[in-house]
Amino acid sequence: MVKGYDNASAQLRASKISEYSTKPLSLKTWPDFERLFRSHPAPGAYPCWCMYNHSAGAIGDTKGLSRVARIEQNRREKKRLVEKRQSHGILVFAQGEPVGWCQYGQTTELPRIDTNREYRALSPRVGKALWRITCFVVHKKYRRRAVARTALKAALVAIEKQGGGLVEAYPIKRWEAYTKYRGTASMFKKEGFRIVARLGDNNLLMQKEI
Ligand SMILES: CC(C)(COP(=O)(O)OP(=O)(O)OC[C@H]1O[C@@H](n2cnc3c(N)ncnc32)[C@H](O)[C@@H]1OP(=O)(O)O)[C@@H](O)C(=O)NCCC(=O)NCCS
Repeated sequence: MVKGYDNASAQLRASKISEYSTKPLSLKTWPDFERLFRSHPAPGAYPCWCMYNHSAGAIGDTKGLSRVARIEQNRREKKRLVEKRQSHGILVFAQGEPVGWCQYGQTTELPRIDTNREYRALSPRVGKALWRITCFVVHKKYRRRAVARTALKAALVAIEKQGGGLVEAYPIKRWEAYTKYRGTASMFKKEGFRIVARLGDNNLLMQKEI
């Protein structure tokens, strides 16, 4: 990309942040979460309802269910976790409309990465709380306008308010990688995360203490 264009788009993204507001996911903001996911913001986001990382295996018993029924099961499961306060995340709003989302939580809430052999070999044992930032979803119309960055900043503030600890992320190294929903390395670097190791060909393990 041309450097001048990069600078211009970075400035645009910086100016956008002040346009957004954020709220945590709760039963009160559940209708906003539903609205964002029902607006089909990204391939994969709507069917998953951000349930994938909540489990180390298959999500619930989906045997024999149609695609539509599986999607509905994910939605119901997610709401159940929100009711039990076992699902955490930040919603980003532009003029009152939900336009983005970032999921975070402790290891017990988001165990999926523990099934990754490379991650397990690194065995990041810590004597403090271990937090994970696992997913981002941004409405298509709002991409490249600092929504993910805004969500990440708010998630870090929320984690700090809940006692902090070691925060991990697993972003992509190069834009073409499939798992874009894990965020980009540059946005975590900007928030003071350091690269700890590679995870496969496409992702990185990054950490920050707060
Ligand atoms: C990845 C994603 C979260 C980025 O969100 P965003 O709000 O557009 O990102 P931001 O504008 O905050 O930018 C964050 C960083 O990512 C980079 N980035 C974002 N989109 C990019 C693109 N298309 N190409 C290259 N870099 C990009 C930005 O340059 C920025 O880096 P910088 O801080 O070094 O400038 C968004 O594209 C998305 O939601 N993708 C689909 C995710 C998905 O499929 N989720 C559902 C799966 S369950």
